[in-house]
Amino acid sequence: MNKEMDPLDFYGESLLLYDSVLIELSSRIDIIRKSRLLHSERDPIENVKTRIKSPDSMIEKLKMKGLEPVAESIPGNINDAAGMRVICTYIDDVYSVAAILAKQKDIEVLEVKDYIKNPKPSGYRSYHMIVELPIYIGEDHHRICAEIQLRTLSMDFWASLEHQIRYKHDIPNHKMIESELKRCADEVASVEMNFLTIRDMINATGHRSG
Ligand code: GTP
Ligand code: MG
Repeated sequence: MNKEMDPLDFYGESLLLYDSVLIELSSRIDIIRKSRLLHSERDPIENVKTRIKSPDSMIEKLKMKGLEPVAESIPGNINDAAGMRVICTYIDDVYSVAAILAKQKDIEVLEVKDYIKNPKPSGYRSYHMIVELPIYIGEDHHRICAEIQLRTLSMDFWASLEHQIRYKHDIPNHKMIESELKRCADEVASVEMNFLTIRDMINATGHRSG
């Protein structure tokens, strides 16, 4: 097995910018959660993961796009060097958290891909936003992009499972697994709508546990 390249060797100084944008976004998410709890409202988020794209997959992506495989090629060309995944409880939490971030004045939403309203042919569902926000390093000011993927627990479970066969095209029953996954995606989508209805029915009885 080849040893993975060290992120600092590949990204150099810009590693701090990608790190910083993820710290910044994580703190915005923390504040959303804390403010909900302060007002005795339900926390809409289950968990948050962040990652900086590994040098190996960044190099591969740059090459695929016909760009020189160096960190300097990233700005203006690749917007998911920094990535955050926000796992929400219910589908409507995905949209409310996305809307709060989009409304923050210094966050510019460059692109939205709503794979919940329009799932991918594989069955993949998630709400993707490419955002750009200011990062201050000492006295210097930069605008840095990040990809935010918002999804529910069940969408996340499905995506992890599907990810495992993504690159295994040579397994014998690949076609069958693909169509089973597609069927599960449809079922999950329908079950999630039921969750919402049940939650609303529980809340309508006067309890605020949902
Ligand atoms: P990239 O060049 O990869 O950024 O493609 P894109 O601009 O079309 O991005 P898109 O928003 O479609 O997908 C970006 C990310 O979403 C991927 O890196 C995955 O993390 C996730 N993703 C997209 N499609 C699928 C899918 O079918 N299955 C799974 N498991 N993940 C997916
Ligand atoms: Mg991407």
